[in-house]
Order: sequence, then structure tokens, then C-alpha cells
Amino acid sequence: MNINWYPGHMKVTIDKLKESLRLVDIIVEIIDARIPLSSRNPKLDSLIGDKPRIIILNKADLADPNENANWKKYFESKGYGVLIVDALKNKGLEKLKQVSELQLTEKRARDGRRNIIDETIKMMIVGIPNVGKSTIINTLTGRRGAKVGNKPGVTRSNQWIKSRDGLELLDTPGVLWPKFEDKRVGLNLAYTGAIEDTILDTEEIALKLIERINSINPKLLKDRYKIETDGLSPLEIMEEIARKRGALLRGGLLDYTKVSMIILTEFRSAMIGRITLERVSDGILY
Ligand code: G4P
Repeated sequence: MNINWYPGHMKVTIDKLKESLRLVDIIVEIIDARIPLSSRNPKLDSLIGDKPRIIILNKADLADPNENANWKKYFESKGYGVLIVDALKNKGLEKLKQVSELQLTEKRARDGRRNIIDETIKMMIVGIPNVGKSTIINTLTGRRGAKVGNKPGVTRSNQWIKSRDGLELLDTPGVLWPKFEDKRVGLNLAYTGAIEDTILDTEEIALKLIERINSINPKLLKDRYKIETDGLSPLEIMEEIARKRGALLRGGLLDYTKVSMIILTEFRSAMIGRITLERVSDGILY
């Protein structure tokens, strides 16, 4: 996520978002199911107020299925429609229309009282970079390979594209910023590969990730790397993995950079296993 968000960008983004809000019936907020809090924009709630909203827990294939269900319940309790989605395999999006209709029940009743018959559903997709906005737009509309781009803000074109089941989508998503001043958020985004530029280096990120995985589900590291981790520090676990994987420099010294990349890559592709790094039971950060 190599975007530098300046106050100017943020203002333009907010202004455009407010403008676009008037054009749509529903906001579809995409988040990363592994880090459902860190992958949200801190201002969105106040910006969109009580506009009907759907939350897509995307990359659900990489997250813990039980936690996906917990987060679904949590967000539903706030009144949002929620979908658990694997956009790469086109799973979970088929209910978008149905869930949207539920969110629009009040609007439909209001329109009915005024004799307005309009069954279209206009929606806009928003989210921070890398959560899967392009993939979802392409999947819904049958477009292939069109990368929407991670430019801050919302583009001016405001073209509508029809989805296969008759939803109307703004052709470009609102690209928002994460709560990057929070160090925990920065770390979570670094783990998932959403940001490349961080104040921490790869080895520190991998060490912290080992610590986090080990505190959530130690079995994952044990099983993946066939190591014992009980009583070991994150650094010792990293060293065990390096030895197992032959991440060695000349002279037999451990190659910390190489093992760090192995761990990060295997976490990001869920080869270590499906895991959710922010759980409802951890408490809500914001
Ligand atoms: P964006 O528009 O919000 O920035 O996200 P985009 O659709 O470009 O998706 C970011 C990366 O996430 C892509 O990987 C995409 O394939 C992957 N992705 C999207 N949805 C899902 C999902 O449901 N499950 C999984 N496993 N992956 C998903 P990429 O092309 O490898 O991009 P990059 O990682 O090289 O940036």
C-alpha cells in the first residue's frame, strides 16, 4: 500500500465520498477477515452515518471460519448486512442482492408511500487498499483483470456498471486510508502484506507475527514446521524454523532475513493455516 495520504488527499477523498453518497442506496464496505478492525477506515462511520451498509468480510478463505462467524454476528448486531466472502473463488457474493434488499426495507416502504417504484439498487464499494475491492468489482460485473488502482479518493467518472444480478455499481471504489497512526494497526497491515513501507523491518514483523500466531493458536506453527514451541521465545521459534527450513548462511549461521520471508509468505497464503489475528473476544479496538 504505497500511498502517502496527505491531509489534502484526505479532504478530497472525504468530499468525493460525500458527493457519491448522495448517488447510492447502499455502501459496501470491504474488509480483510483476518484483521476486521485494522482493515477499516476510522472515519467511515461518521461519514456515512445511518446509510444502509453491507460489510464484506473478504479473504474469508484465509481466516478462521469460527471467527468469520463471530465477526458476522458482531457486525450484524450493529445493524449491517454481512457477507463472508472468498472473492477469488467467487464464494459468498451470490447473496449480495438478497442482503441488500433487507437493508433497503425501510427505503422501499418510504418509496411505496410516495408511489415511487424504483427497484434498482445503486451501490458503492469502499475500503482501504488491498482488501479486494478490484477483485470483487470484477467478479460482480464479469470484468476481467481490470485493476481499479489504489489512487486515494474516488474518481470523478462515476460510471455505473451493472452486476450480473442487476445491481448497479459505481465503477470505481472509494479508496480509503487505514488508522495508520495506531501501531497495532500498522503491524496487522504489515503481516497481511497490505503495507510495504513500515517503520519495522521484515525480521521484526516476522518475530511479532510468530508471537501473535503462537498466542492465538500455537498448534499452527508446530504442525507446519514440525517443531516444539512450548516454552520458547519468538526468536527461538524463528531459529527452530530457520534450521528446519535450511535458512542458513555460509558458515552455518542462521539466515534471519530468509526465514522471516518464509514465515510471512506462508502466513499470507494461509499455508501456516487459516487464522484470524483480530478476534471479537480480544475486545474492540475502535
Ligand atoms: P484492492 O482493489 O482493494 O486494492 O484489492 P485487490 O482486488 O487488488 O486484491 C488484493 C490482493 O488480494 C490480490 O492479490 C487479490 O488476488 C487478493 N484477493 C482478493 N480477494 C481475495 C480473497 O477473497 N481471497 C484471497 N485469498 N485473496 C484475495 P494479488 O493479485 O496477489 O495482489 P498483490 O498481493 O500482489 O498486491
